[in-house]
Amino acid sequence: MADRYLSFTGTAPGRFLTRRLGLPQPAPLRRWSPDRPGLDGERLLLTAGKSDLDLAAADLGLTTAPAEHPAAVVLDATGVRDVDTLAEVHAALHPVVRSVAASGRIVVLGAPLDPADHHQAAAQQALEGFTRSLGKEIGRGRTVNLVRLTDARAAASTLGFLLSPKSAYVSGQVVEVGPQEVTPPDDPDRPLAGRTALVTGAARGIGEAVAETLARDGARVVVLDVPQAGQDARRVADRLGGTALALDITAPDAGERIAAALPDGLDVLVHNAGITRDRRLVNMPAERWNAVLDVNLASVLRTTDALLAAGALRAGGRIVATASIAGLAGNAGQTNYGASKAGVAGLVRALAPRALAEHGVTVNAVAPGFIETKMTAAVPLFIREAGRRMNSLAQGGLPSDVAETTAWLAHPASGAVNGQVVRVCGQSLLGA
Ligand SMILES: NC(=O)c1ccc[n+]([C@@H]2O[C@H](COP(=O)([O-])OP(=O)(O)OC[C@H]3O[C@@H](n4cnc5c(N)ncnc54)[C@H](O)[C@@H]3O)[C@@H](O)[C@H]2O)c1
Repeated sequence: MADRYLSFTGTAPGRFLTRRLGLPQPAPLRRWSPDRPGLDGERLLLTAGKSDLDLAAADLGLTTAPAEHPAAVVLDATGVRDVDTLAEVHAALHPVVRSVAASGRIVVLGAPLDPADHHQAAAQQALEGFTRSLGKEIGRGRTVNLVRLTDARAAASTLGFLLSPKSAYVSGQVVEVGPQEVTPPDDPDRPLAGRTALVTGAARGIGEAVAETLARDGARVVVLDVPQAGQDARRVADRLGGTALALDITAPDAGERIAAALPDGLDVLVHNAGITRDRRLVNMPAERWNAVLDVNLASVLRTTDALLAAGALRAGGRIVATASIAGLAGNAGQTNYGASKAGVAGLVRALAPRALAEHGVTVNAVAPGFIETKMTAAVPLFIREAGRRMNSLAQGGLPSDVAETTAWLAHPASGAVNGQVVRVCGQSLLGA
């Protein structure tokens, strides 16, 4: 369903009218395309406090020379250790924030909170409130995110993603990157070459976009969906040069059947399949509760356990699960769905350190907000409009936005990103 309001505000009368009425002003977002893969313009590096970070190691093309309309600004605030030094955050960004280009990026770099130093922890936590507030006021399709890191090289894939059009709908996020050593891929344009990726629920919607993006990045994709969606799954697989696997993910032996279908193992497992069966709790029969918990959470736990136990995920593997902002913020009529998606976040946070230590596999989640799919096109008009506008970018996201975020987490150089739940929601007002 096309976003007519976004098209209308792009016209001169539309802009005039919506400004006069004080209505939201969504800006068309610059997304990745093969002919325009990067941001056009300078990437300015600013510093607050005394930093020990070697950002040159991450090879991000940053410049300290003043730029008239920078496409991106990176503020290295890892050296901010007390409230006084926070003034340098203001001093660095206040003069340049207005000049950042439309659809530009601001990335604040922070340090991990030091539990032994409450002044450092206060100043570093302050960066989160700063980032989220700036994200809400900056407008013009510009995003603001915070990355906590200790080693710029380990964060190169993350910074590359956040400083690109691929992260168009990711704003107001805090991502932690560990100190693990990472290996950059041989071919940066096809980072997943030689790897196998299985995406559940990939016959349509977000899953189809994820399969398409992982195939673009070089992966051999396996398109899993229920047998009833077999024809669509085969169509997607054929288009992407992959294979289709007809399987209901709630089957008790789904993990074993995936392992049997992929005897050489797999590198990327994307748990995308999900359903909604909305009702308020007072009207919700047990079948609706059980169906949602089974598809969205129990089957994710079962198949993950079975595939890890079978050693089917090769070292360097990636698991990306799908949460939802409804699971983080709660949503009326979705006690079953909210519970299932919050459960996904719990699974990710608890399993991540163990899966990395024991199997060399990272575990992360994407948490989509309002994404334009068949699922959201069926939502009644007023609720759909509220979902679209109630975020800092004042519009819905596209399946490709979730897909690009998944591709970053699946990237071979993202081995230091683990246990993160990253919202792809345009900084939704829900539970922000
Ligand atoms: N669209 C949104 O705005 C939104 C927001 C937040 C989270 N999500 C989550 O993103 C994921 C994809 O959503 P979507 O909008 O593309 O949904 P969709 O309904 O368009 O697609 C879901 C796919 O999963 C498949 N599926 C369902 N049950 C399955 C099972 N038991 N075994 C195998 N496959 C099964 C379906 O056949 C379908 O192809 C879901 O987990 C959803 O909860 C979506």
